[in-house]
Amino acid sequence: MFSFTFSFSPIVFALFLIPFSMFSASTVDGFSIKEATVEYIQIAFHNHKLTSRQLVEFYLEQIESLNPLLHGVIEVNPDALEEADRADEERKSNSRQEPMFGLHGIPILLKDNIATKDKLNTTAGSFALLGSVVPRDAGVVAKLRKAGAVILGKASLTEWANFRSYGSPDGWCARSGQGKNPYVLSADPCGSSSGSAISVAANMATVSLGTETDGSIICPSSYNAVVGVKPTVGLTSRAGVVPISPRQDTVGPICRTVADAVYVLDAIVGFDPYDPTTNKSSKYIPSGGYKQFLRTNGLQGKRLGIVRKPFFDFSSESVLPRAFENHFNTLRREGAILVDNLTIANIDEILSLGASSEETAMLAEFKLALNAYLKELVTSPVRSLADIIAFNNKFSKLEMTKEYGQDIFLKAEATSGIGHAEKKALSNLKKLTLRGFKKMMKKYKLDAMIAPGPDASSVLAIGGFPGISVPAAYDSKGIPVGICFGGLKGSEPKLIEIAYGFEQATKVRKVPEFLP
Ligand SMILES: *[C@@H]1O[C@H](CO)[C@@H](O)[C@H](O)[C@H]1NC(C)=O
Ligand SMILES: *[C@@H]1O[C@H](CO)[C@@H](O)[C@H](O)[C@H]1NC(C)=O
Ligand SMILES: *[C@@H]1O[C@H](CO)[C@@H](O)[C@H](O)[C@H]1NC(C)=O
Repeated sequence: MFSFTFSFSPIVFALFLIPFSMFSASTVDGFSIKEATVEYIQIAFHNHKLTSRQLVEFYLEQIESLNPLLHGVIEVNPDALEEADRADEERKSNSRQEPMFGLHGIPILLKDNIATKDKLNTTAGSFALLGSVVPRDAGVVAKLRKAGAVILGKASLTEWANFRSYGSPDGWCARSGQGKNPYVLSADPCGSSSGSAISVAANMATVSLGTETDGSIICPSSYNAVVGVKPTVGLTSRAGVVPISPRQDTVGPICRTVADAVYVLDAIVGFDPYDPTTNKSSKYIPSGGYKQFLRTNGLQGKRLGIVRKPFFDFSSESVLPRAFENHFNTLRREGAILVDNLTIANIDEILSLGASSEETAMLAEFKLALNAYLKELVTSPVRSLADIIAFNNKFSKLEMTKEYGQDIFLKAEATSGIGHAEKKALSNLKKLTLRGFKKMMKKYKLDAMIAPGPDASSVLAIGGFPGISVPAAYDSKGIPVGICFGGLKGSEPKLIEIAYGFEQATKVRKVPEFLP
């Protein structure tokens, strides 16, 4: 998958846990950190059961012990403990009026294509950008800092958000090696926001951010049994994010629960002068933010579309048809109206990067946007896509250029702006969206379409539409599978109600066991 892909939790206070638990790294004063939600942590902060420093110390230990196996984290922020101390002091002195379940003092990992102006590098996983200096924090990072979040470090990814070559394995980047699926170590972790999903799945951070161009939040969320929110394009700023296509790129949370993802979403949405699209899209943000849509009866009256072909064409020996039929019944029981056997016009064309011409558009957009990003850097070893291609040839051992190639880079470099072919491609994508997904959603008055895993990613990608992935099942090998609810632009409030309602009714997520 390209940043890009091919291929109110119950608050239970166990105050009197067995005494020796106080000496275990995962509990503090009877508070269990593993799997802790933002709400649970904020209440523990409030009740003086936990400090942000203790939380950061726990995650640093987790990273130290698990990351050599999982490769989900590229860099740890040397200032994370200091940032945690500052949050603890602010809380003690009551110097900030925080919304109850905000991100103040909460450690977050950022996909390594999201810029931070601090000691951390921003490299999209590549040695070519190591040592580059960004002009400023990415728009979403500025908002996270304002909310008081602790930047814990950078998460690994499929290098260059999977836009370097067709042969790059999901979850691999030169700087951190092969990211592993914590459920089944030999399984695909998917990508390109692989490290963000792996890390929160394995409790190496409370929450994380990923980015998506086509499938890159939804797919790894699905494969690592976590919740991913792919926001409407422009709802979150893309400024300071190593780009693929400004028309499709979006930044969103990857977390263990829908509620956690929504608290992160509330912190990062909104206007950013460095990303003009946020101006247009901020009209979608409801006053009072998104947390008001965490309603347990959120499925009541929601109209959900099912496109059986090709999305639910599972092989006959798969355990998934049964799991999804069960989920359909649960959704009905919770008050949703399922509209079955729908079709999306030209779906085969939409799902083919070549046939839809999504690839033609992205290749030219990538070269323009990446060169603009590189130009803005204060210092950088590379200043253009051509420089990066030369770097990969020169340091082919480091970048495994012979093994994995850089054919997408070469194709992109051969483009020269938005010409005739690209204009035709863009108009075809618009037409496919208008006559396909949009038409179906309007005709049947749907609130969302249901699809397994990342299967409908391109449908959402080419239209700039939002989607939320929630853990749904485990296949016969124990590899997680998500359910994705996708909707029209600005439909996040409804998608959150649906996703939260589904999560609360099913609770499929379990902790990973690192099976071989
Ligand atoms: C960033 O990269 C430089 C090498 O250029 C390295 O020395 C430094 O430790 C890295 N920063 C972090 C936080 O890992
Ligand atoms: C968005 O753009 C419009 C028109 O250019 C401008 O009037 C408005 O103030 C802008 N909104 C923000 C939040 O800057
Ligand atoms: C969907 O189509 C199948 C056959 O293609 C049919 O058996 C089934 O009853 C249909 N379901 C609905 C709800 O229309």
